[in-house]
Amino acid sequence: SSEPHAILKQDYQAAQDFYHHILLRTQAGVSALEYLHQRQLTDETIEHFQIGYAPDQSQILWSFFQEKSKSTPELQRSGLFTESDQGQFYDRFQDRVVFPVTDQSGKTIAFSGRLLQPPPPDRPVGKYLNSPETEIFHKSKTLFNLAAAKTAIRKQGEVVLFEGFMDVISAYQAGLKNGVASMGTSLTSEQIYLLQRLTHRLIICYDGDAPGIKAAQRALKLLQETNLEVGVVVLPGGQDPDEFIKKQGGDAFVKLVQHKSLSPVAFMIEFLSQQYDLSNDLQKVDFLNSALKYLAPVQSPVEQELYVRQLAERLQLSVTAVQQELADQIKSQK
Ligand code: CTP
Ligand code: MN
Ligand code: MN
Ligand code: MN
Ligand code: MN
Repeated sequence: SSEPHAILKQDYQAAQDFYHHILLRTQAGVSALEYLHQRQLTDETIEHFQIGYAPDQSQILWSFFQEKSKSTPELQRSGLFTESDQGQFYDRFQDRVVFPVTDQSGKTIAFSGRLLQPPPPDRPVGKYLNSPETEIFHKSKTLFNLAAAKTAIRKQGEVVLFEGFMDVISAYQAGLKNGVASMGTSLTSEQIYLLQRLTHRLIICYDGDAPGIKAAQRALKLLQETNLEVGVVVLPGGQDPDEFIKKQGGDAFVKLVQHKSLSPVAFMIEFLSQQYDLSNDLQKVDFLNSALKYLAPVQSPVEQELYVRQLAERLQLSVTAVQQELADQIKSQK
């Protein structure tokens, strides 16, 4: 093939098929398959995402590739193995459920592997382990599920951005097929660029816990520089989308995403309000002044008035007073 890196992509395809086979057709895969079923993934979903299992063995993939007479330099470049100081090679993924990560054309270029149980505190390993950066895998330019979601993103004119792989997968099962996730790190401008070529609207649906809300704020900052129309879904009770779907059901989740997303300004104000005790008059004034900082830059007068009214109602103040306060603040900024 004339495509550069085609060989490495073939290696990933072979590894994916191998791990998928182990999950579905072998004794070694039974506990992992049970784990996925327990997380309520259907066989159709497991098939769709080509999920696999890397068993609790140190060189099973290595041996598999040795039988195919693969050269050591090629296997070194693949990132599928780790090398000991003694020059021994070991499978990078051991005892992990593996989720294939594809490039934009749908070719597998990396895996993310999840432990079946949370790691014990004395073991310095993450719950998730990603493939390292290689010549075919650049984490900051990759979005999980982008190739498969492309058609749905175009059709619906919207992409939903999640924090985790399992969120994308649960959402898919709930019928939401335009979901993607960044690779366990903050959203990057390269990832935004990829999305902008497909759609003009993006919904952030991160975890409802403190780290998720922080991450959403960071993403919003980056998205300000773009012409994407942005909405933010805040999940109740610190849940993540996967947990919400499990508790409230897929239909409730899809409704939430479709009808209950907040504008960036409304989201910032909502988040801000949680840091104040609004039954206290002094804190009320502090909150109002901080909230107005988000309202001041709003370009559309209609939108601005809408937020003013919402704030006034929430704080039980007159619209005129809040409007006056906003005008003062804008004046003092000039
Ligand atoms: N992540 C990671 N390494 C970790 C924890 C998380 O790379 N030790 C990444 C993964 O891509 C994960 C995302 O960050 O999908 C979000 O983290 P978290 O919310 O903790 O994981 P969940 O997606 O909820 O994972 P699960 O439901 O499987 O526990
Ligand atoms: Mn299959
Ligand atoms: Mn999280
Ligand atoms: Mn989560
Ligand atoms: Mn989760």
